[in-house]
Amino acid sequence: MKQGEPIKVMTEGNNLKSYEEARKNFDWKEVEKAFSWYETGKVNAAYEAIDRHAESGRRDQVALIYSDNDREEKYTFQQMKEQSNRFGNVLKKVGVNKGDRVFVFLPRSPELYFSLLGIIKVGAIVGPLFEAFFEAAVKDRLEDSGAVALVTTRELLERVPVDELPDLKHVILIGAEESDLKDGVLSYEKEMEAASPELDIQWVDREDGMIMHYTSGSTGKPKGVYHVHNAMIQHYITGKWILDLQEGDVYWCTADPGWVTGTSYGIFSPWLNGVTNVVRGGRFGPEDWYETLEKYGVTVWYSAPTAFRMLMGAGADLVKKYDLSKVRHIMSVGEPLNPEVIRWGLETYNRRIHDNWWMTETGAILISNYPSMEIKPGSMGKPFPGIEAAILDDEGNKLPPYQMGNLAIKAPWPAMMRKIWNNDAKYQEYFRIKGWYISGDSAYQDEDGYFWFQGRIDDVINTSGERVGPFEVESKLVEHPAVAEAGVIGKPDPLRGEIIKAFIALRAGYHPSDELKEEIRAFVKKGLAAHAAPREIEFKDKLPKTRSGKIMRRVLKAWELDLPTGDLSTMEG
Ligand code: WT7
Repeated sequence: MKQGEPIKVMTEGNNLKSYEEARKNFDWKEVEKAFSWYETGKVNAAYEAIDRHAESGRRDQVALIYSDNDREEKYTFQQMKEQSNRFGNVLKKVGVNKGDRVFVFLPRSPELYFSLLGIIKVGAIVGPLFEAFFEAAVKDRLEDSGAVALVTTRELLERVPVDELPDLKHVILIGAEESDLKDGVLSYEKEMEAASPELDIQWVDREDGMIMHYTSGSTGKPKGVYHVHNAMIQHYITGKWILDLQEGDVYWCTADPGWVTGTSYGIFSPWLNGVTNVVRGGRFGPEDWYETLEKYGVTVWYSAPTAFRMLMGAGADLVKKYDLSKVRHIMSVGEPLNPEVIRWGLETYNRRIHDNWWMTETGAILISNYPSMEIKPGSMGKPFPGIEAAILDDEGNKLPPYQMGNLAIKAPWPAMMRKIWNNDAKYQEYFRIKGWYISGDSAYQDEDGYFWFQGRIDDVINTSGERVGPFEVESKLVEHPAVAEAGVIGKPDPLRGEIIKAFIALRAGYHPSDELKEEIRAFVKKGLAAHAAPREIEFKDKLPKTRSGKIMRRVLKAWELDLPTGDLSTMEG
């Protein structure tokens, strides 16, 4: 099989029978009819995801299967309803109102899911924080959003500078000890126990806020990408047609809810479609991946290229030890899916891996390979029915097949972000070409309409599918006493897609050494986030800068990759 040679459809009976037919007749208004609010006018995405099923035939069906090295728990839709109701009541008791921001800083655990849903049920806006964040990352997000309440654990609370966050009134603490319960700190367990499992749901407008994910650009602090309840329309239908979720499916999305994949497709999409959702917590190796698939009889599996490459590295013999026969459908997102990985998937899992493309800002999948469609390895696929994608030049002209340009989407669509919190200028930048959303990715389209990812237009780094802004890492680096200046780039890496590499000029009196590299790495890890710490550090006497003093990452990248440095006319002498 050559790269790009199509792979034929392997399974029958998919929800989406014909992509072409669906495109011709698609109408978002028809999709809405799946929801009760189409008749009642009352909207709440958490109600639609959980309570609607609890109140119908799925009351006793398992909604969540949670496992890690210490726990294994199952919750039915009815139990999910009651737990999230209790949490909603806890928030009401402390006076959380519609539109307030409430953050969740928890490792994957059932409590994370109960609280996240409970927040949405009372009409508040939930902000999930990835558990690997440390103080600076946590503070930036809580401060910018003006969060009034936070759910976290004792251990993670150490990374929250509560005294520097005047808006933060309440901390709901898991595992709290008696001595913790002061200054607005409540015990999660006690409050949940005391709270009623019946809740007066806050009905909202479909354009009211539901969730905020902070994400990185190439400049400035992370941005609060704001999504509304209306997004559920797209979470639902992409779950049906791209995830191919069907009655009785057991679905596993391996992403953490700290990232958008872990909420749009780890919470909303599967539950809006009424399927059983598997969550594996803690850290786990290749054996645990396969064990999870086998033990719970996972039928639909959504993961990322970096994970598939890791499993590929663990070898085909390991796969033979497990019964993966229930797995019907596999998908991948987050970074380019190597054709080589698709080949391995065909050989070892006897399944195609379906690549798809979207972003935090888009809220839901926009481009995909569909189960009923031939796939071309290396391509992200075709736009979802109801979505128009194009390759535009910088003036907004559509480019012909095979010409690389800006990957753009006709705006709006149901799950599109509705604002960047506190930063309208940033929001408007995405829409600088009238009528279009400009993704920041470059791509081309082939003559059959398939899209092919080429790269980022800006300096954003994608390491193991996690998006890291070089500016944030640079800002943290220069806080270290030894660092005078720092420039950070993504360096291509066979396993992680890219790794973070930092070029550092030291202050006078400091000398390059391996110990110093280690110390600086640990400084970023503990100050910002483990995944944001540079894996490689190179000391330089001087960094390339523009005359206005901006570090030229483009030149650093060219040095690293032995490429021509391009136009250096703005570089200082
Ligand atoms: C960026 C968005 C929401 C998905 C998880 C990441 C890159 C995403 C693909 C793909 C090549 C991809 C893009 C995009 N990306 N999917 N199938 N092929 N690149 O969300 O953290 O907002 O990152 O991830 O560069 O802009 P995110």
